[in-house]
Amino acid sequence: MKVFQYSLLCAFLLLSISCVYTDLNRDHYLLSPDESLSFIFHSDQQNISYSLKKNNQFLIEKSRLGLLTDQFELAEDLDVKKVTRSRNNDTWIQVWGEQKHIMDHHNELSIHLSSKTNKMQMKIRFRLFNDGLGFRYEIPDQKELNEFKILDELTEFNFSEDSQSWWIPAYAYRRFEFLYANTLISDISRDTYSKLVENLTGPRLGPDAVHTPFTVQRDDGICIAIHEANLTNYSSMTLQATGTSKMECDLIPWSDGTKVYTKVPFQSPWRTIIVGNNPAELAMSTLTLNLNEPNQLTNTDWIEPGKYIGIWWEMIGTNQSTWGSGAHHGAKTEKVKEYIDFGSKHGFKGVLVEGWNTGWDVNWCCSGDGEAFDFYHSHPDFDTEEITEYAWKKNIRIIGHHETGGQIQNYESQLDSAFSYANRNDIRVIKTGYVNDVSQNISRIAADGKVYKEWHHGQYMVEHFRKVIETAAKYQVSLVPHEPIKDTGIRRTYPNILSREGAKGQEFNGFMSTKDNNKPNHTTILPFTRLLSSPMDYTPGIFNIKEYRYHSPDDRTINTNHHIPSTIAKELALYVVIYAPVQMAADLPENYTGHPAFQFILDVPTDWEQTIVLNGEIGQYITTVRKDNHSDDWYLGSITNENGRDLIINLSFLDPGIKYNATIYKDPDDGGWKSNPEEVIIDNIIIEKDSDYRLTLAPGGGQAIRFSPFQPK
Ligand code: NOJ
Ligand code: CA
Repeated sequence: MKVFQYSLLCAFLLLSISCVYTDLNRDHYLLSPDESLSFIFHSDQQNISYSLKKNNQFLIEKSRLGLLTDQFELAEDLDVKKVTRSRNNDTWIQVWGEQKHIMDHHNELSIHLSSKTNKMQMKIRFRLFNDGLGFRYEIPDQKELNEFKILDELTEFNFSEDSQSWWIPAYAYRRFEFLYANTLISDISRDTYSKLVENLTGPRLGPDAVHTPFTVQRDDGICIAIHEANLTNYSSMTLQATGTSKMECDLIPWSDGTKVYTKVPFQSPWRTIIVGNNPAELAMSTLTLNLNEPNQLTNTDWIEPGKYIGIWWEMIGTNQSTWGSGAHHGAKTEKVKEYIDFGSKHGFKGVLVEGWNTGWDVNWCCSGDGEAFDFYHSHPDFDTEEITEYAWKKNIRIIGHHETGGQIQNYESQLDSAFSYANRNDIRVIKTGYVNDVSQNISRIAADGKVYKEWHHGQYMVEHFRKVIETAAKYQVSLVPHEPIKDTGIRRTYPNILSREGAKGQEFNGFMSTKDNNKPNHTTILPFTRLLSSPMDYTPGIFNIKEYRYHSPDDRTINTNHHIPSTIAKELALYVVIYAPVQMAADLPENYTGHPAFQFILDVPTDWEQTIVLNGEIGQYITTVRKDNHSDDWYLGSITNENGRDLIINLSFLDPGIKYNATIYKDPDDGGWKSNPEEVIIDNIIIEKDSDYRLTLAPGGGQAIRFSPFQPK
């Protein structure tokens, strides 16, 4: 009897031990390769959630996960069925970029879940890198499930500290083109933005939410940015404020309220939490690119990084020309030829010409209701054949321009013709544009013939932008969209999407008065926010800073209300600080001719072997160095906000055993954006690795340096 009881007890114990052991509804842990970050997946009776620690301190506390759809919920009463793990450590090469080699070193944890109520299955895949976390939802093929609608994504980001944050509002009229607000996370709201930065006009249409990348800096200096990677067939994620330090995923809806139309097999974009010990580390993260699919274009020989000039600033900046017809039309054959001459003489790759096509004349801007543009018939002032042949002879290419005014269906109906026109006329890069300055105002005519108004960043537009990238690739054309959707690293998969705008660029210094233009600190915020997502077509290089703008093309007297908050030295530094594979020399040729500082614009590359952010504080200053991908030269760009400052740096990045000739472009002693912005001092010194160097930056100024191996004469 005793033996029997004893064996029964043993069997019971064994069973319960194995039950406990096999019950996967518990915490699951994951460490980053360097073990500095640790991730925990939590599953309890009710919810699934996650948290993230750095050096054993919570950065993100328990934050919910889950999806709600029109047919099922994957948020509560879930069973963890299986847990799988893997790791990766390899290096891949960029077609072009801020660095040639990118290391993808991560540990992965996949949680396979099944709903207790409806048996639906879902997997959440987590990848932990040394520079942060990425995770995505995946719904595999399963019985009786085909198409479904996502009504809400429950992902939360519950910051453990109410830190300083830098943000721009979502659901606001001008897409991403806003100056940044800097507040505590708990203070984020549309009203706060209106008080601190710009009064947001128009009716309140969406929740109090911000765009990503959304950046915070903790009291201990650690920086965290929330963004997404590989935004494909989904809608953009914004972050809804809650009045606390928790931010919630908010997907931009379709006009019918649906967040995403999708089907199985399904995978969401990656939700990313980029982490750095300081702002400089954050800015060097490669996590977003690592979470995208490899390059899909088999031949990339036709993709050319490089610098360009254009018939642009004379419309948007100096106000001497017009996009549309008339006496002051900028895109006239003779003028284009002059730009071609200048560009060709100085080795530029391209000449952008805006206003070359038909459709600019009647009220094209900015409500989406202007005349429909035609993208493959030029304006009579612009002789395509003559210009193409002239450019060909001069070894330079025209950069095309497709301003759509946000009229998507008009553009899509011409995509093939438009890109085949470009291909025929030797155009390799096209700048696109989607100016439509009204919230939720992208017209979509549905099959029922009714017009529906969509947001600029919802799934409709995400799919539109992908269609354009794919069509352009088919015709071997690269793109630089303005008013784009945000980048989420798609450039890895389609390297023909070279750059984009998607933030307040130089244009606002062009047409806005001194009171309302970009402030001197704007470019010291961009590297830690918008630029975490991708290159930017900021269009630096304005030399005529103070009295550049006419009252109108007819009234050529100077409008003294316009003064750009920059210095020439800072304009040069921006070519290094703001990465773009295609960089514009934005000013008029006449302002460059004979100017000694123009040499820096001619020298600076746009494709790099290596990039290091040496220092930086968000909204204050940044110093970036990059090594040319095609020579041994290094370049440095350092910029400051409205305060002048000295920064001592060590030149440890230079290669050993080489003496460098450093050509330095700096602000004069009395320099600064207000006082003396147009004087730039050019110095030459011989310098070596590991020496200390003092950067002196004037208020609103900067410094640019080219280091090239010294060759004695
Ligand atoms: C806004 C763009 O940002 C600017 O570069 C362009 O010139 C105008 N739209 C016209 O397309
Ligand atoms: Ca713009």
